[in-house]
Amino acid sequence: MESTWRAVDEYFERQLALGDPALNAALADSSAAGLPAINVTAAQGKLLALLAESINARRILEVGTLGGYSTIWMARSLPADGRLVTLEIDRHHAAVAQRNIDRAGVADRVSILVAPAIDSLKSMIANGVVPFDLVFIDADKERSLEYFEASLTLSHPGSLIIVDNVVRKGAVVEAASEDAMVQGIRRLIDRLVDEKRVSATAIQTVGGKGYDGFLLARVMNEGDRVIG
Ligand code: SAH
Ligand code: DHB
Ligand code: MG
Repeated sequence: MESTWRAVDEYFERQLALGDPALNAALADSSAAGLPAINVTAAQGKLLALLAESINARRILEVGTLGGYSTIWMARSLPADGRLVTLEIDRHHAAVAQRNIDRAGVADRVSILVAPAIDSLKSMIANGVVPFDLVFIDADKERSLEYFEASLTLSHPGSLIIVDNVVRKGAVVEAASEDAMVQGIRRLIDRLVDEKRVSATAIQTVGGKGYDGFLLARVMNEGDRVIG
C-alpha cells in the first residue's frame, strides 16, 4: 500500500504542478546537508498555503522549521507586507533553512528564531506581539500541548491552528503507548475535550510520508456555538 500512496502523491504533484524549482531545491539541499526527510509533502504544503490564503493570513507562526520547506509554502501565501515567524532549536537546521528561504525570495517576510520553541513562545507572549492568523505546530511532539496553549494565547478569534503528525501510523489510539511522541499528542487531544476556545477536527492522511494525520482547530469568538 505504501508504494501506492507514494505513487498517488507523485501523480497529483505532477498533474497539479505542485511545487517549483525553489521548493525542490530546498528539499535537495536539506537532504545534502543531512537533514531528516520529515518535511510536509508538496500536497500538504499546498494545503497549508491554501488555508493561509483562505483566511487572508498576514501573520503566520510556525513551530519547527527544519529546512524551511513548509515555511516557504506558507510564506508564498502572504501579502508583501505579511510576516512569518518560524521557531527552530537546531542552528544547523536554521542555517540550511535560511539559505532555502533566501533562494525562494521570501526572506523579507520570514524570521527564524533559533531557540527552544517554548522560550520563543513565552517571550512573544511577554512582549505582547500582534496575534497570528495561522499557526503550524510541527516540532517535538512531546510538547504539542504546551505549543498549542501558547498558540491560543498568541492568536485571535478566527485564527487557525494546525498540528502535524497526530496519527503516527495509528499509534495515537494506544493509551498505554510507551512512545513519548504518542503520549504528547494524546495529552493535546485529551485536553481539547474541555477546550471551549477552539472548534477542532483531526484528519488521517496517507501519502509519500506514510500514514499520519493533522489536527485543524479554529479559534472561536466568545459565545460562538460549537458545531458538532
Ligand atoms: N515544518 C517542517 C518540518 C519540521 S521537523 C517542514 O514540514 O518542512 C521538526 C523540527 O522541529 C526539526 O527541525 C527540529 O530540530 C525542530 N525542533 C525539535 N524540537 C524543538 C524545540 N524544542 N524547539 C524548536 N524546534 C524544535
Ligand atoms: C517526524 C516528525 C515530523 O514532523 C513528521 O512530519 C514526520 C516524522 C518524526 O519526528 O518522526
Ligand atoms: Mg511534521
